[in-house]
Amino acid sequence: MRFGEAFLEDLKSRIRPSDVIGKHVKLRRQGREFAGLSPFTNEKSPSFFVNDQKGFYHCFSSGKHGDAISFLMEVQGLSFPEAVEQLAQMAGMELPRADPQAEERAKERKAAISWMERAADHFEKTLYRAPGEAAREYLKSRGLTQTAAKQFGMGFAEDSFSSLKDNLIREGAEERQLIEAGLLIEPDDKSRGSWDRFRNRIMFPIHDSRGRLVAFGGRAMEKDAKAKYLNSPETRLFSKGQLLYNYHRARAALLDPNNGARGMIVAEGYMDVIALSRAGFRHAVAPMGTALTEDQLALLWRAGPDGYLCFDGDKAGLRAAYRSIERALPLLKPGQSLRFVMMPEGQDPDDLIQAKGAPAFQALLERSVPLVDMLWRREAEKEPLNTPEAKAGLKSRLYDALREIKDPTVRELYEASLIGRFDKQFGRVWTPNRSKPREKKADKALVAAGAAKLSRNSRQAQTLIGGIVLFPELLSEVDETVFGLEFDDPAHVALQRSILRYWRQTKAVEITGLHAHMSEDGLEEELRTILSRRTLITAALGGANAENGDRAAIWMSEAGTFMDNARTDAGSTDARSRMAETIRKDNAEAMHRLMRAQTRARE
Ligand code: UTP
Ligand code: MN
Repeated sequence: MRFGEAFLEDLKSRIRPSDVIGKHVKLRRQGREFAGLSPFTNEKSPSFFVNDQKGFYHCFSSGKHGDAISFLMEVQGLSFPEAVEQLAQMAGMELPRADPQAEERAKERKAAISWMERAADHFEKTLYRAPGEAAREYLKSRGLTQTAAKQFGMGFAEDSFSSLKDNLIREGAEERQLIEAGLLIEPDDKSRGSWDRFRNRIMFPIHDSRGRLVAFGGRAMEKDAKAKYLNSPETRLFSKGQLLYNYHRARAALLDPNNGARGMIVAEGYMDVIALSRAGFRHAVAPMGTALTEDQLALLWRAGPDGYLCFDGDKAGLRAAYRSIERALPLLKPGQSLRFVMMPEGQDPDDLIQAKGAPAFQALLERSVPLVDMLWRREAEKEPLNTPEAKAGLKSRLYDALREIKDPTVRELYEASLIGRFDKQFGRVWTPNRSKPREKKADKALVAAGAAKLSRNSRQAQTLIGGIVLFPELLSEVDETVFGLEFDDPAHVALQRSILRYWRQTKAVEITGLHAHMSEDGLEEELRTILSRRTLITAALGGANAENGDRAAIWMSEAGTFMDNARTDAGSTDARSRMAETIRKDNAEAMHRLMRAQTRARE
């Protein structure tokens, strides 16, 4: 990290959080603090506070808090260095430079970007002049209005080897700069001159995540063109796998509190993104002709907890979807996942919207498939499952996939879901009916053991659900885990759903709010039952005086054994108990991490 502690301290001492935040939120002084409407939720009365002395903000309606740097990261979706840079500029501070060479590079970069912008200007002007007539016709034939073209800065590179080159050189560019920016092609034989890379193509400007113009995509208009799309080559400014088309606009759209989406929509092409955006899905992006990279997934998750990946419903589309599962599994985390939007065969989002309008796409979005289901489908569809060997094969593939998931909590939940599904379909080995007629006695014992197990399970279930009802602040530690537990008792399931809805709506950890919400959900009876067992539940979670972190750790370990038991009850195998063992270990690790984090937070 190139910013030292001293620099950051200095920076923070020179800026007032209320100045920075006041640019985004209307603040009113209230005693020592400032108050305003939360920029994170759609609230009507102010519960967002800024304290300059302490140097931080706190948002009661979303639970978010932090300093000026984290505020900018959150609200403008900036990375840490980006936020620091912006604040340093406000404070009139020089950024520490690693070395003079870096400074030189930064200067060259800036110049290159400004030539890219001039190029975009040139392309755009050309589109609306005489040489752009056919291009304008083409866009019109594809249902693209002039407003849309302007909004996305589209242009036209005329059919000439030197139009852009001549123009920019006249404006003062050096040939070398334009070659390095990928705008001109330099022949191997250097004695010949360079020429325009983009000729007779519709131009799409491509920006990096900060909205700087770094590349172009160019579409040929004839059906039989050699390359339908030609993109800028990899340059100092542009690395195809590290950015997503339209990301900066999509991020701004997602940050709008009126946009309720949980993440970006990922289409395949430029035209799809533009069609989606015009149809009201302004949070749409696309990679540039390649499968999503890790960097691109990280960008998606910086913007929201889910990514909605669109794929063609045909075989190739399905294969592409499966490939992205592979990429994503090791990177999954609580609050960091993907959903799959399967398009009708042979139609991309652009085609669908042109043919059937936005509601058709909305309907597909609503039917988007969670990653876990897609993973099941991928493994289950590999071969017909009509022999024991094939079923065993499926099970071992599922475990192979589970091993790819690095995050222990997510892995555990995926295991519960996938293996649970497997057992539901194939796994019931024990059939009570067959043993009934002869072994009456043994049967009774079995029933008794079953009952004991049941009451142990339901006691545990009550502790887990009741723990959240009584101590909702646990949610911030264990959220994903609560929602993945599979309860038998309908009352517990109902409480779990109610908690989930409340958590999604408010993210605030507040007991009276939660209980009111449960009553609204018609769960007064269930709530009363839990409250009447308050002493028991509290004791099982470390007593009334336990610290939140310790209580969370106990809760997590209860949840771990609860899940193990659920698994064992479904019929144990060697592979499964080995798995359960590793999960227990990971769980202990996760618990320790949790406790350490908690201790740090308290310090
Ligand atoms: P598609 O072939 O799906 O095109 O390529 P599209 O987006 O539907 O475009 P239209 O509707 O035919 O105009 C998807 C993306 O793959 C990249 C481009 O980024 C394109 O948007 N691509 C495609 C290339 O880079 N080169 C190509 O030759 C084709
Ligand atoms: Mn298309």
